[in-house]
Amino acid sequence: MMVLFSHQKGGVGKSTVAINFAYQIQKKYKDISILDLDSQHSSMLFNQLRTNLKLSTIQCVTQDDINIGQFLSHYKADKNNLLIIDSGGYDSDINRTVLIKADIVITPVGISQIEIFGLQKFRKILKDASEALNTIIKTNVLINNVDSRSKSKLKDLKEYIKDKPQYFNLLNTTLHSRADYKNSYGEGLTVKEYNKKGKAQEEIKELTKEIYKLLKN
Ligand SMILES: Nc1ncnc2c1ncn2[C@@H]1O[C@H](COP(=O)(O)OP(=O)(O)OP(=O)(O)O)[C@@H](O)[C@H]1O
Ligand SMILES: [Mg+2]
Repeated sequence: MMVLFSHQKGGVGKSTVAINFAYQIQKKYKDISILDLDSQHSSMLFNQLRTNLKLSTIQCVTQDDINIGQFLSHYKADKNNLLIIDSGGYDSDINRTVLIKADIVITPVGISQIEIFGLQKFRKILKDASEALNTIIKTNVLINNVDSRSKSKLKDLKEYIKDKPQYFNLLNTTLHSRADYKNSYGEGLTVKEYNKKGKAQEEIKELTKEIYKLLKN
């Protein structure tokens, strides 16, 4: 199986969520890996931090480390294997390939107007790719980085997403703006390891359950 975190817009939380999701779900799969297609290489750097700290790691590779065709087939073919891909948008052959092949696409977004513009662009990418392939490529939109003062903006964003059911499915889980997400990364820790009883780890647990259910259907 393949879960792709994808958005052409930067800084929306793709790597943060991909990493935390990977460590949260790892026990459910026989073979799990992260493919880091992000130019920032945030997932690889996180792995290096963990290795230096002698913490357990999930295998993380870049495009240069693998034969992409064989690697994707290995994860695509077996329901007991899970590949988590931390990617950009649709700007390279490899990003296009994974967008087409993924079982589930997740697109994190923030709640400002600029994020709605970003999502409009991504919708166009999904539409063009879907039309070219004569299929529908849909993404699961994850609202991220919400703070409690933005209720009306949150409502607008949800309406925008729900209004475009052909390419967007709005996930029920919402992630709030929490220091644990920022602070844990630099210590090579997941939010759960960083703060066992924190709200961030609760949100990641809920999100993981929701994505796992989608993978099972
Ligand atoms: N829910 C959240 N609460 C607080 N900070 C967050 C949250 N989600 C992400 N961040 C922070 O936002 C920044 C960008 O996140 P991240 O690097 O995961 O985004 P990205 O989409 O992978 O970016 P890029 O496109 O550059 O790879 C990071 O500093 C991260 O810690
Ligand atoms: Mg990233």
